[in-house]
Amino acid sequence: MMSKQTKKIKVICVAAARPNFIKIAPLLEELKKHKQFKPILVHTGQHYDYSMSGSFFKELNIPKPNYNLGVKAGLHGKQTGKTMIEFEKICLKEKPQLVIVVGDVNATIACALVATKLHIKVAHIEAGLRSFDRNMPEEINRILTDHISDYLFTSCEDGNKNLLKEGINKKKIFFVGNIMIDTLLKQQKKSKKSKILKKIKIKPKQYALLTLHRPANVDDKKRLKTLLQTFNLIQKKIKIIYPIHPRTKKQIKKFGFEKYLKQMKNFIITPPLGYLDMIHLLNNAKFLKTDSGGAQEESTVLKIPCLTLRDNTERPVTVNIGTNVIVGTNKNKIIKEVNKILTGDGKSGKIPKYWDGKTAKRIINILIKKI
Ligand code: UD1
Repeated sequence: MMSKQTKKIKVICVAAARPNFIKIAPLLEELKKHKQFKPILVHTGQHYDYSMSGSFFKELNIPKPNYNLGVKAGLHGKQTGKTMIEFEKICLKEKPQLVIVVGDVNATIACALVATKLHIKVAHIEAGLRSFDRNMPEEINRILTDHISDYLFTSCEDGNKNLLKEGINKKKIFFVGNIMIDTLLKQQKKSKKSKILKKIKIKPKQYALLTLHRPANVDDKKRLKTLLQTFNLIQKKIKIIYPIHPRTKKQIKKFGFEKYLKQMKNFIITPPLGYLDMIHLLNNAKFLKTDSGGAQEESTVLKIPCLTLRDNTERPVTVNIGTNVIVGTNKNKIIKEVNKILTGDGKSGKIPKYWDGKTAKRIINILIKKI
């Protein structure tokens, strides 16, 4: 038991971009249950629009950040560097015993690097994922963060294997399951109340949901054009709902591709949606087409067929066990898989181990013993 005089353990939790908010919510909730911790939430400000950030705080009941670093967008060096400069000030002021980073965005490596150089322990949640594609900025962030972190919490057993192969000490690795699924399961009931289907006048199972924002797909003119042409063929068979990401919106404008959008009667673009609307849309979709990481996992848990518009995935468990098929950006391959789904032959799957809503609890129980 702690005496009244015992100082609380200060834990800084870092969140930066949309998928981070979904991962940090259950963690903060669990930390709150243990009075020995004093959580401090730092929002780096990488995502800043209400639809990309504020709405997630509201819907997921995430407390107001103690600090917002206001980093916003920029080239990788600028965004990462600015995060480091600002985060170092917070660490020096607060002197936390632990910094928790999640996922694979620029803030993940930036804040882990600052903390470890100040001899502050670092926990990385969602460690060990590898796409083996170093062209992805996220892959660089994953590798570097894992190698400087003290506690590596993995979401699947492949993660453990990858880390061990890279020579990481097995005492640092903890297989705890998928924290994103904690939020998904918790919010299922609430998401069913979403009015989004009515709002966009669409019926369950009569549409495919799309997410698309990876630089490899949307910053590359040829690849984006091929994808839009492929969507044109698909929307003749089934409606496509696309909550557009700001990066993709900018790129479509830059390449003058609005003309392709105008040709597609059944390609419905909405602004970026909040978490509950998005999960409701996914729950009721015939299938998902995506290049996101988290959406591959969410569709596996919801048993919705998923076509991943990338050449690889850092989440192979969604392919080996779940509903995911890697289709890349090859028009014929995509159409072939779409046809399979439309004729009732879509992939079914099982739910991976520990994707059960209890991951945050497992993480905090381990940290209690370690810190
Ligand atoms: C970032 C992450 C990516 C993650 C994605 C989730 C990195 C390297 N990338 O990519 O791993 O999958 O978030 O969405 O960290 N923008 C807005 N409003 C916002 C946020 C962004 O307009 O609220 C614009 C930015 O100005 C920028 C573009 O969207 O032009 C891209 O934003 P950025 O945060 O740089 O990268 P993402 O593509 O979102």
